[in-house]
Amino acid sequence: MVEELENILKDATLAISNAATIDELDKLRLTYLGKKGIVTIIAAKMKDLGKEEKPVAGKALNKTRTVINDALDVKVLNIQEAEDRKTAQNIDVTLPGTPMPRVGRHPISQMLSESVNALRRMGFSLASGPEIETEWHCFDALNTPADHPARNESDTFYFTDGRLLRTHTSTVQIRTMQNSEPPVRIISPGAAYRRDEIDSTHLSQFNQLEGLYVDKNVSLADLKGTLEYLLHSIFGKNTQIRFRPHFFPFTEPSFEIDILLQAQGKQPKWIEVAGCGMVDPNVFIEVNKSRGDNNYSPEEVSGFAFGLGLERLAMIRWGISDIRLLIENDTRFLQQFA
Ligand code: DAH
Repeated sequence: MVEELENILKDATLAISNAATIDELDKLRLTYLGKKGIVTIIAAKMKDLGKEEKPVAGKALNKTRTVINDALDVKVLNIQEAEDRKTAQNIDVTLPGTPMPRVGRHPISQMLSESVNALRRMGFSLASGPEIETEWHCFDALNTPADHPARNESDTFYFTDGRLLRTHTSTVQIRTMQNSEPPVRIISPGAAYRRDEIDSTHLSQFNQLEGLYVDKNVSLADLKGTLEYLLHSIFGKNTQIRFRPHFFPFTEPSFEIDILLQAQGKQPKWIEVAGCGMVDPNVFIEVNKSRGDNNYSPEEVSGFAFGLGLERLAMIRWGISDIRLLIENDTRFLQQFA
């Protein structure tokens, strides 16, 4: 029987090495190792062998089976490899690939996250407030009297119950001071609404980023340092920034901040990006009245506040000339920012 097995192994090895396709190898596997295969049939005869012959034949049988099986596996791999190599040779790597859709963040989201990241590095945390506001939070508490033009019917979206769509995010300054003790250092991004005619520089809903810092001894130098750091983070260290005196009811002194835009081939131009100032003592007094304490005493604390327009930042950053592009969701426009 041992001799018989040796012959089978020889034949099988030869047949395997002559096989040229995986199909042929599959057939050989059946012929030798299948249920009715040559080796299997021999194995069935084992039981008829004598005591002495059995272990020797058993060993030879196992060896035959393993060697044939391994030889088949190796040959299959070799053939597969050769086929792969052939296919690879036929691939033209200079052909254009299948384009991947490019995804990216909306320019306003990019400005938002860059601003928020820079301000968080300076210790500001996020705060929020409702977009439907009381007149008190939007105006009175912010030292904006009833006859101020910002409160005009024609500039503001009022509800019949007297509330309104907030005209700025400065409302969150008030809500924060009502609900927490000094020191406070918050930023609050969000939507603001004006009854503006929509054109290339105006929308009726836009995005602001409000900031407020109240503590002992907060000074104009802190305001300048904070906003310079913020704007340099967004527009680059070499961007020139100026603080131009202005008026806001809720800050005194107040400023508008301009940055110098130096577009290639054009005259450099100062462009306004934010309003800011030192919190007006009247704002603290109004907050204290509503809190029923004197924790925001103008004698003890001072603060600065600022409000940035996020659309404005995006328009400057990428030279976008029409603000409406930012809300039209035209992918031909948006893909440029991916
Ligand atoms: N709320 C102002 C606006 O919407 C922007 C602003 C100016 C916010 C000065 C401030 C500030 O916090 O101090 O036009």
